[in-house]
Amino acid sequence: MRTHHCGEVNESLIEQQVTVVGWVQNRRDHGGVIFIDLRDRSGLLQVVIDPDTPEPFALADAARNEYVLKMTGFVRTRPEGTTNVNMPTGMVEMLTKEIEVLNTCEPLPFQHEDKDISETVRLKHRYLDLRRPIMQHTLRTRHEVTKTMRRFLEDEGFVEIETPILTRSTPEGARDYLVPSRTHAGQFFAMPQSPQLFKQLLMVSGFEKYYQVARCFRDEDLRADRQPEFTQLDIEMSFVTESDVMQMMTQMVKKLFASVLGESLPKEFPTITYSEAMTRFGTDRPDMRIDLELSEITDLMQAVEFKVFSGPAKDPKGRVAAMRVPGGASLSRKEIDGYTDFVSIYGAKGLAYIKVNDLTGGADGLQSPILKFLPDDVVAGIIERTGAATGDLIFFGADSAKVVNDSLGALRAKVAADLGLVREGWAPIWVTDFPLIEWDEDAGRFQSLHHPFTAPYEDQVELLSTDKAGEILSRAYDLVMNGSEIGGGSIRIHRTDVQQKVLDLLGIGEEEANNKFGFLLEALKYGAPPHGGIAFGLDRVVAMMAGVDSIRDVIAFPKTQKASCLLTEAPNDVDEKQLRELGLRLRKPKD
Ligand code: AMO
Ligand code: AMP
Repeated sequence: MRTHHCGEVNESLIEQQVTVVGWVQNRRDHGGVIFIDLRDRSGLLQVVIDPDTPEPFALADAARNEYVLKMTGFVRTRPEGTTNVNMPTGMVEMLTKEIEVLNTCEPLPFQHEDKDISETVRLKHRYLDLRRPIMQHTLRTRHEVTKTMRRFLEDEGFVEIETPILTRSTPEGARDYLVPSRTHAGQFFAMPQSPQLFKQLLMVSGFEKYYQVARCFRDEDLRADRQPEFTQLDIEMSFVTESDVMQMMTQMVKKLFASVLGESLPKEFPTITYSEAMTRFGTDRPDMRIDLELSEITDLMQAVEFKVFSGPAKDPKGRVAAMRVPGGASLSRKEIDGYTDFVSIYGAKGLAYIKVNDLTGGADGLQSPILKFLPDDVVAGIIERTGAATGDLIFFGADSAKVVNDSLGALRAKVAADLGLVREGWAPIWVTDFPLIEWDEDAGRFQSLHHPFTAPYEDQVELLSTDKAGEILSRAYDLVMNGSEIGGGSIRIHRTDVQQKVLDLLGIGEEEANNKFGFLLEALKYGAPPHGGIAFGLDRVVAMMAGVDSIRDVIAFPKTQKASCLLTEAPNDVDEKQLRELGLRLRKPKD
């Protein structure tokens, strides 16, 4: 239909005839002469329609934004003073001699340039939203990301294998999406929460290096970085240790950032254990662009009279920690109150602080509502451990270790963002040595931290059936980038006896295990090789690389926070006949 793309028309084509097609980005009527910016996927071209050519002029006059036009004309230099050096086609324009209207367009629900278009409107008319340059850019970035990952893995000898969407429940810890079976009335398929079990089976089958760009389904409470349906880059390898997987993935991520963003990441990514990450940062996904750290002061507080601190300090499950904020002494009372409200979201009952106005001034140089409760040597200990200097502020958390970690961990990120203490750039870090299991108060039993197929360290296997099981560390690893968990994986259990012991520990009896994933347990008996793998949250990786806040912005047709699609209006009602075929009857919700 065209001789050139809009964005390709430049000075090399002056006086030549070209035909372009595209959408009317905007149309300006300049007292008798009409200007149209015509847009296709390559960019914009300014087109001029002169009243001397009445037929195209009438068509251009009637055209509105987003009409689809085919235009033929001659390329000429723009008159002096009207050139635009910021545009690849900014030195030229096309004088039109022929227009064909390929399609019209209804008045738009929003214009490309509109700021603050509500997400509801954007999602309802997603096909229009995707026309906007920013959305075109992010989806192209997404394509570059998957393409680069695929190339890397193919060069390394991985094979991409598809696994079923209609399957059985896969234990990743979220609620399943279920699909009723017509041919087995009353029975259901579960959509996979990840291809975990299948990729392990493929290792038993001898593929050794598998990957898949895999869609995963999890019915969980949604946040900006979670979707009910999301994509993983899923990987599994045989005859590997954790360092093999981590090294291979470090190479892949380095390649990715170099090819897509031209950014060079460190040769090796730093590694931190889960326990160190919790102690120093209060979280297992620390943002390493931030230098703020928590200081352990539990031991210092055991003997103080201040019950708020000594209580948690004496409790084996408690923790008292301090966080130095450089330059924080200038925070106002109102700002500190704001942070106190902020930590209360995480269950903190308060946020004690000491302002270090003048370190040389002894007690007079310090300002704090809690100083009166703390002996001088304890205060000196706090100053020493936090390394606080004149002009700093120290925040305190005292509670169960969980509340202290959650609240100070989140406060660390918030304060850093507010005070401009977050470095530019990329800070990857591997987190390793997670606990194998954690106690779930609500369920009254142990749960896997990762999933039940994660291997414990070899020398700790014997602890599995003892009361020390809670101390066992797993061979799991997460890749964290700028405070977001972008991938996680582990070396798997490849022996049935060990797998059985872990399932026992999780309170999953033989019958339940056989019922849920007997096929995997069976497969492990037939010469399963040692194996391990990882999965990256592709949407999160792309969102981060494209610099957008929500993964909804990197998914072409995402769901809302309420897990519905505003465009197709899914989920929706089905007719009685379909229900009958599936052997289903609906329960009417109580009003
Ligand atoms: P995991 O459950 O940690 O591991 O998931 C891997 C990665 O997927 C991303 N992710 C999500 N992204 C968007 N929306 C969601 N609801 C969502 N849930 C998870 C995260 C996460 O790091 N089978 C294991 C992997 C393995 O062991 O190989 C698994 O699924 O970025
Ligand atoms: P109070 O004695 O309750 O007035 O508290 C004195 C100071 O300790 C105030 O600054 C509170 O914000 C702070 N505080 C109270 N409980 C905690 C807690 N659990 N952790 C940290 N600070 C606290």
